Amino acid sequence: MIVIDGPAGAGKSTVAREAARRLGLPFLDTGAMYRAITHVMLSKGIPPSDSPEMRAALGGFTVSFRGERVFACGGDVTEVIRTPEIDRNVSPYSALPVVRESLLGIQRDQKVHGLVAEGRDMGTVVFPDADVKIFLIASPGERAARRHAERLARGEESDYDDILEQVKARDEMDMNRAAAPLRPAEDAVILDSTGLSFEEVVSRVMEQAARVLTPEP
Ligand code: DC
Repeated sequence: MIVIDGPAGAGKSTVAREAARRLGLPFLDTGAMYRAITHVMLSKGIPPSDSPEMRAALGGFTVSFRGERVFACGGDVTEVIRTPEIDRNVSPYSALPVVRESLLGIQRDQKVHGLVAEGRDMGTVVFPDADVKIFLIASPGERAARRHAERLARGEESDYDDILEQVKARDEMDMNRAAAPLRPAEDAVILDSTGLSFEEVVSRVMEQAARVLTPEP
């Protein structure tokens, strides 16, 4: 069991997905789950507070993955959960304990046959007994530049300064919320990907994985 936590845009998803592929383990993108809840609540017009409407909607919420596609309440939400509207709204919803509790069981149920899971609180709350815990960081400028390039590659409009502001605002909210704040677990390895290539980052993750997943000869 490998967990990769860290701030927005540090490359967790792509790195964790590739590490999972190389290790032959399933991959769990928990940010996609919080994004899917945010999308469902926004489309129902339910604001981010612990209300009876919120609890009822969470009771009926389902999320599943098929390959790289994400489904929420039966619909394909793969693209819509990556829009700037969701980026702007996801932190207030994911700060609510009622939202986090509703995802905890769903996330732990995925553990069955080993897993590479990425998020904010995988090592601290969801899988505290994970074999390898990595806290992946990068400078805000580099993280914003990556998001900017991703958006342009998808043919979307993008403004670097806007993204940088949003990256900083989201870090601030994710680190300072009361419920499961973004922070490294005490036994996490801090991996700073600033200036490293994708391949170098994946190799460092694989080195950590090899230390615990390969039996001593
Ligand atoms: O990794 P991401 O950008 O897709 O995550 C979207 C948001 O979801 C992020 O701002 C914080 C929240 N999140 C969380 O609170 N806990 C997780 N385990 C994963 C994501």
